[in-house]
Amino acid sequence: MLAANKKRLVIGMSGASGAILGIQLLQILRESPDYETHLVISKGAEETILQETDYKLAEVIALADQVYDINNIGAGIASGTFRTAGMIVIPCSMKTVAGIACGYADNLLLRAADVTIKEGKRLVLATRECPLSAIHLRNMLTLAELGAFIMPPMVTYYNNPMTITDMNRHIIGKILEKFDIEVSGFSRWCE
Ligand SMILES: Cc1cc2nc3c(=O)[nH]c(=O)nc-3n(C[C@H](O)[C@H](O)[C@H](O)COP(=O)(O)O)c2cc1C
Repeated sequence: MLAANKKRLVIGMSGASGAILGIQLLQILRESPDYETHLVISKGAEETILQETDYKLAEVIALADQVYDINNIGAGIASGTFRTAGMIVIPCSMKTVAGIACGYADNLLLRAADVTIKEGKRLVLATRECPLSAIHLRNMLTLAELGAFIMPPMVTYYNNPMTITDMNRHIIGKILEKFDIEVSGFSRWCE
């Protein structure tokens, strides 16, 4: 049941490097009075959480309001009738980019993104790979042409970040701005 004063935001975490970005975004959204988070974590992301962070999977899951099994293709977020404000995939691997770009929805994360596109809702992809091949770039162009926001976690310098957490917070602030969510301490140029 959707709380009257809340909007649902679907969060996908896939197996690109930068698992901490998804974790930090969930931590920030926990403080949001307006949104509840619906999280789906790919098997690849389970691996990167383990390899790149000190978080246990259970601790990441505990940050979300609702969590879905990646294989649960019958979950609410697999349907266009399930009300959401949109979806963020953070971090977003090139495999997941390819799946979304082709409409190859063989897991719940891909299906939820496919539904977000077909319903004309906001889709933000924090795509991450380096270097990017022509295949990756073509897939991202396809998605950008469909209206998705391609938001790689690029380093910004004008805000003088002192730590990786500062840099992450800035890109998360830019991503959440797409849903009109203000992140405290987000540094705006000339403001
Ligand atoms: C530690 C680690 C870092 C990885 N980093 C990336 C990355 O930055 N970008 C990427 O596209 N794939 C990366 N991969 C590979 C993906 O996890 C792999 O292609 C996986 O099949 C993606 O599946 P998923 O999108 O369903 O999570 C990484 C894998 C590991 C173990």
